[in-house]
Amino acid sequence: MTATTKQQRLAQWLRPEIQALSAYHVTDATGMVKLDAMENPYGWPQTLVDEWLKVLAGAELNRYPDPEARPLIEALRSVHCIPEQSGVLLGNGSDELIQLIMMAVALPGRVVLSPEPGFSMYQMIASFVGMDYVGVPLSATDFSLDLAAMLAAIEQHQPAVVFLAYPNNPTGNLFDAEAIEKIIMAAPGLVVVDEAYHAFADATQMDRLTEYDNLLVLRTLSKMGLAGLRLGLLAADPVWVDEINKIRLPYNINSLTQLSAAFAMRHADTLTEQTDRISRDREDLYVRLQQMAGLTVYPSRANFILFRVPSGTAPALFEQLKQDGVLIRNLHRDGSMLADCLRVTVGTAAENDAFLSAFQRAL
Ligand SMILES: Cc1ncc(COP(=O)(O)O)c(C=O)c1O
Repeated sequence: MTATTKQQRLAQWLRPEIQALSAYHVTDATGMVKLDAMENPYGWPQTLVDEWLKVLAGAELNRYPDPEARPLIEALRSVHCIPEQSGVLLGNGSDELIQLIMMAVALPGRVVLSPEPGFSMYQMIASFVGMDYVGVPLSATDFSLDLAAMLAAIEQHQPAVVFLAYPNNPTGNLFDAEAIEKIIMAAPGLVVVDEAYHAFADATQMDRLTEYDNLLVLRTLSKMGLAGLRLGLLAADPVWVDEINKIRLPYNINSLTQLSAAFAMRHADTLTEQTDRISRDREDLYVRLQQMAGLTVYPSRANFILFRVPSGTAPALFEQLKQDGVLIRNLHRDGSMLADCLRVTVGTAAENDAFLSAFQRAL
């Protein structure tokens, strides 16, 4: 087949909205100080690794995984303080759960609504499933929720789903809890509170689940220290969980993830020690960044910090850091609310020092 026919076939059959997308890009970080993806930088003590390997040795890889993953769900319920009246659904990362929620409600013309800047996957997945996406700007000064704008947009667009990341990525702040409640009450459809950074936030909407049948809470193990496992959870009224469960592909949580995550939940103290340390180190990193001239550093309740650099310098600073072996995230887009913004994940104390020294040199 000639190249032209190949391209023609693609243009004819591939959905236009998919043609218009760019694939999610992940920069190769081999050999670098990796502070771009909100990972926990710590591994487990060797004794724990040895114990975990013994658990894995018992995995029956010739069999399909437990389709319901009940023991794991019970362990997660306890560690994540999920109300017993709520249902729980597991996903291959919370990304998969975001996709399942949207697939369950998608119809042409239906709207997904979220404050912006926000987590980019909400808009991408809306496009995968053929829904319309509406972004509502956060307040430009401190990235807080513009409640009036949110309520007006909800009234106008009647969204099937509203996504609120709590704390928000990439800004790091926690939205006002009362504003969230007003949004839940005003929304005609679902409101998903995405608590991916819960471990660093000391705040949650989980305890409101029993009050609102349209509230769904997402959590992930990724930021707690288990990004490689790919495990997210959705807690919500069982009515919604049972329906969304119908479109989950069978066996979406593999056996090694089930065994490893259940093991990790039995040793949740180790993860909590690590995430508490990251939260403390975040405060230290925040103060040290604030001491640098010319930066606006935004307060964070997550394991990363957003900061604004002098106008026009973000791309060069990002590149210079990369040359120096430190990978962070460049969020700069001309004219956007994130113009001149960079985001750094909190790493180990040594990684944070390496970042700060390289950044000082680059400045
Ligand atoms: C707000 C938010 N939600 C969800 C995710 C996805 O997490 P995962 O698919 O690793 O569970 C991320 C990842 O960066 C995030 O920032």
